[in-house]
Amino acid sequence: MRKKLIAANWKMYKTPDQTREFFREFLPLVSAHNRDEVVVCPPDIDLAAAVEATKSSNTAIGGQNVHWKPEGAFTGEISAAMLLALGVTHVIVGHSERRQYFCETDDTVNQRLKAALEAGLTPICCVGEVLEEREAGLTDDVLRRQCVRAFHAVSAKKAAKLVVAYEPVWAIGTGKTATPELAAEAHAVIRREAAEIFGEDFAANLRILYGGSVKPENASALMAQEEIDGALVGGASLDAKSFAAIVKY
Ligand code: 13P
Repeated sequence: MRKKLIAANWKMYKTPDQTREFFREFLPLVSAHNRDEVVVCPPDIDLAAAVEATKSSNTAIGGQNVHWKPEGAFTGEISAAMLLALGVTHVIVGHSERRQYFCETDDTVNQRLKAALEAGLTPICCVGEVLEEREAGLTDDVLRRQCVRAFHAVSAKKAAKLVVAYEPVWAIGTGKTATPELAAEAHAVIRREAAEIFGEDFAANLRILYGGSVKPENASALMAQEEIDGALVGGASLDAKSFAAIVKY
């Protein structure tokens, strides 16, 4: 049985004060919850406040990106060692907003993923097709290509902590959720590709999250799919009650 992982991606929302406020409300709502793993990924500026607020709680903290070098002249970037030094345990890599707006490529996603794994962080590696690719019947090809390139030169042993998030770009922030069946089909494609690359046993244990307009109202139908091992939640994770309702789907 794969333990589900419910993750929040706050994107560019909340200050440190708002972060503390969120956890004051959120943690009591989920304190008795140990069925699933819970991770919140705030902006870097909030990480210290988030780690402090969640100490000795059941909620872990993740970054939203990581550079592949330990340090250097890379303005605006953050390294795995810096995340670890704060007490961060997870990190998102390859989010479609990074790919769309910040020239993130399959190659840089691969480098970031390798750095995260090497450092012992749990990477949440995002893949997903845009609407034109889906309409052209290219979804499976796109997902396979993104996986092959993201996992290039990563061994199954090194990849032990890997988590994948399937986030169809047309479902992000649009209110258009993939149906549970459609998401499960995409997850099966990703799992087959992971089996090709890392082997059947690895793929059977790999957690694949769904992201794209997950809300309290649709979370339980999505989570009921055997193929769906959790959620990566954007907008609906900003409100403590709403994210708690998703965690307790
Ligand atoms: P929304 O939940 O706002 O659609 O965002 C999904 C997402 O991009 C999570 O990484």
